Amino acid sequence: MASGMRHRAATVLLPVALSLGAAAAVMAWLSTTASASSAGRDTATGPSAPADQISTGRALFVTGCSSCHAVDGRGVTTDDGSVRGPSIIHTGEAGAYYQLSTGRMPLTDSSKQAERKPPAFDKTSIDALVAYVASLGTGPKLPHVRVADANLADGGEIFRANCAPCHSAAGSGGALSYGAAAPSLSQATALEVGAAVRSGPGQMPVFGPSSLSAGQVNDVSDYVQYLRAPDDRGGIPIGRTGPVPEGFVAWTLGMGALLAAVGWIGTRSPARESIEPGAGNEQ
Ligand code: HEC
Ligand code: HEC
Repeated sequence: MASGMRHRAATVLLPVALSLGAAAAVMAWLSTTASASSAGRDTATGPSAPADQISTGRALFVTGCSSCHAVDGRGVTTDDGSVRGPSIIHTGEAGAYYQLSTGRMPLTDSSKQAERKPPAFDKTSIDALVAYVASLGTGPKLPHVRVADANLADGGEIFRANCAPCHSAAGSGGALSYGAAAPSLSQATALEVGAAVRSGPGQMPVFGPSSLSAGQVNDVSDYVQYLRAPDDRGGIPIGRTGPVPEGFVAWTLGMGALLAAVGWIGTRSPARESIEPGAGNEQ
């Protein structure tokens, strides 16, 4: 009798399992096609710098930055010898873009490590400030990050060898010496990754073109996008939360269907009587 029940369970569960498999395949297909088409959107180029853009940037810099960095960008040291802001004349486009796009600058408290926050300036103002800072001296240019034709597997290798020691294998960040921390990479855009790599902010080393080629910057930026909380990784937007909740929804629906099937088998099966209390004591 028990084997009859098992047989019945198998005939019902098999189609359920098959349809779940098909649903999962469709989900996976949807998310790959969606992310393939969204990959091109992270393509970005550095700002060009016409004279009027530089002068707009200078005006913004005088108001928002010169109290700590001085108008000429050479930095400000207070009377007691503490640095209110370091010299930024050789930070270049990459350094300025990194600081402004991740909202680290303007800083409020010079004694703390700058942290990521929503940017204080819109894109046009950021571009103007970047142009002004870049005009102060020679520094790394903002790379042209293109993730569209990047190699994700190579990016993973570069990341594990060069970035994971500080940012962790999952990109969730970690503590460094002297109370500093390598931040989580869950919010960094591809262009911010390129800017960080080329400018080496704070305790992060500079990775110049001789240690990471332009193609390798694309690869590692793509890999960071792959690791990051999947804001825009494609797939079906369930509250724009990405593949993990999608998987969870699929799983819940699937389990719900399974449980319903099991319950249905349970009520229908005549084998039920044999497992009634006392049934086993008859011999
Ligand atoms: C309250 C003081 C303060 C203000 C205001 C401020 N900064 Fe800074 N800035 C700092 C300090 C301190 C650092 C170094 C801290 C760090 O790297 O975490 C720094 C670092 C930087 C760096 C990176 C320097 C390097 O060598 O990596 C750049 C670029 C920069 N600031 C640009 C700006 C710009 C542009 C503004 C205005 C929008 C601004 N800062 C406003 C204090 C300030
Ligand atoms: C020695 C440790 C160290 C290594 C190695 C390192 N980083 Fe960093 N990284 C840091 C620190 C510290 C910061 C924060 C700097 C600051 O104060 O602005 C940072 C910041 C960043 C940010 C900004 C994140 C955000 O959203 O604010 C990105 C992106 C980044 N790193 C990418 C990389 C990549 C990619 C690599 C490998 C090619 C790498 N880092 C290697 C220490 C490191």
